[in-house]
Amino acid sequence: MSEYTFLKGSKDWWRQAVVYQIYPRSFADHNGDGIGDLKGIIEKVDYLASLSIDAIWLSPFYPSELADGGYDVADYRDVDPRIGTLVEFDELVEKLHSKGIRVFVDIVPNHSSDQHVWFQEALRSPKGSKERARYIFRDGRGDNGELPPSELSSHFGPEGWTRVPDGQWYMHLFTKEQPDFDWSNREVHDEFLKTLKFWSDRGVDGFRIDVAHALVKQLEPLPTRSSYSLEVMKDDGTDQLFDRDEVHEIYREWRELFNQYDPPRVAVAEAWVHPHRRPAYATNDGLGQAFNFDLLTSAWESAAFQKVIDDNLAFADQTGSSTTWVMSNHDVIRHATRLVIPAGKEGVTFDAENHWYVNHRLDGDLDLAKGLARAKAATLLMLALPGSSYLYQGEELGLPDVTDIPSEQMQDPQWFRGEGKFKSRDGCRVPLPWSASGSSFGFGPGGSHLPQPKWYSRYAVEVQDGTPGSTLELYRSALALRRKLISGEKLSWLPSATGTLWFEREGGWSSITNFTDQEMELPPGELLIASEYISAGKLPANSTVWLKLS
Ligand code: GLC
Ligand code: CA
Repeated sequence: MSEYTFLKGSKDWWRQAVVYQIYPRSFADHNGDGIGDLKGIIEKVDYLASLSIDAIWLSPFYPSELADGGYDVADYRDVDPRIGTLVEFDELVEKLHSKGIRVFVDIVPNHSSDQHVWFQEALRSPKGSKERARYIFRDGRGDNGELPPSELSSHFGPEGWTRVPDGQWYMHLFTKEQPDFDWSNREVHDEFLKTLKFWSDRGVDGFRIDVAHALVKQLEPLPTRSSYSLEVMKDDGTDQLFDRDEVHEIYREWRELFNQYDPPRVAVAEAWVHPHRRPAYATNDGLGQAFNFDLLTSAWESAAFQKVIDDNLAFADQTGSSTTWVMSNHDVIRHATRLVIPAGKEGVTFDAENHWYVNHRLDGDLDLAKGLARAKAATLLMLALPGSSYLYQGEELGLPDVTDIPSEQMQDPQWFRGEGKFKSRDGCRVPLPWSASGSSFGFGPGGSHLPQPKWYSRYAVEVQDGTPGSTLELYRSALALRRKLISGEKLSWLPSATGTLWFEREGGWSSITNFTDQEMELPPGELLIASEYISAGKLPANSTVWLKLS
């Protein structure tokens, strides 16, 4: 595997990187079967480079039965034949590297697919065998073991135990097609080290670790609730299922492997834990960085944003890491829509009955023009913050969520689990519009695995490319400018009117956001970029402006 010189000697490249998330099945489809593929991504490398991003993160592209959008992995060291081949993967990495774009892949260590060879072996093997010991198999309760081993719900379940033909049960925190590994088994550790080495050797620069806080579980007595909720999850490292202190031993071992590479491979934890427990996932002898999803759950309100920013910069300081910012991803309502959902229903909230964070259903009309203005303002604010920013494919087009996918075309297990009560995550996973017309708006020469609405046409890359004032050109300019402006990692607040937030970065530049629906005064300074058209010293409603300070 060729190593590019730019990748060497820059071990801190991730600290303020902009990472663009690709959901491979919905990005670009080369062969017209309606499913995005690696060749499709390869054809869009120039597009990616035109965004001035530092890295891409590929959501799972591994062989999968798609019980959970690919987060049910049947083989961690291969490419789903519907998506491509390992040879194409190598070609993609090489092309991206040649443009200075690094690559993250998604590692799903809490559970595999039930199609994984290990799980298939476990099913064929007897009770108590070493094949079963890689997962969590137990006998049931009741006279004939007909009751599950414990009363455990799962996130997309409803039940957290599923019975196999010989009468035993296996545990799964997500769908029944996603059996949980038993991380007290050394074999599981070795298998994942092998996987991490496999991708690192292929030139992968970083890893996004799925449900990083769930791997280690206390299984005696068996857990009786899946406490995904922060309200019930213990915050001292002794919860039965989540965020146990011992989980970090796993990541220390991974770090030793990462550090054998030049530059060291990096990782970011997806861990929905109590905020004060987050730094533990971001230590430099562990994964190094952790997501904070606080902007995802935050109302469009200056005080709320300010608190999130202060808290997360402080958390990052505790470990010497840098923080992460996310406005959209494949699990939540796109922010161009989310930011105009009525107060109290903004983002993902916890549903106690279903033990899962859910996207609220969007009933009634939303003011999408305001949503787009707020989304652009939020993004420009985010890109001015110290730390790394994660973008989700399509947000650079200002795409709203698709809210009217017919139920028979839904794919998300959250939809089926919630019996239609919640909004499905499919709405943010609809294949991208590349052109204004054509059978799948240029997604590919064929159809699209999730239906695209007619209005997608207006948001197409083709329509926005080179068009002054388009969301795409705003993203491009902002990202290119960010590269030039960013030096240190400090932020200092500047005094500004109620309903606005103004902060300065090293090098004498600043970002001011107006969260209100009224125009405000724009402070003096040279205008660097603005999310809306600026006239006569005014800061428009729902906008962000970067200013050079004199
Ligand atoms: C993470 C993923 C989500 C998936 C879940 C189970 O939260 O982001 O898409 O459903 O883990 O793997
Ligand atoms: Ca395809």
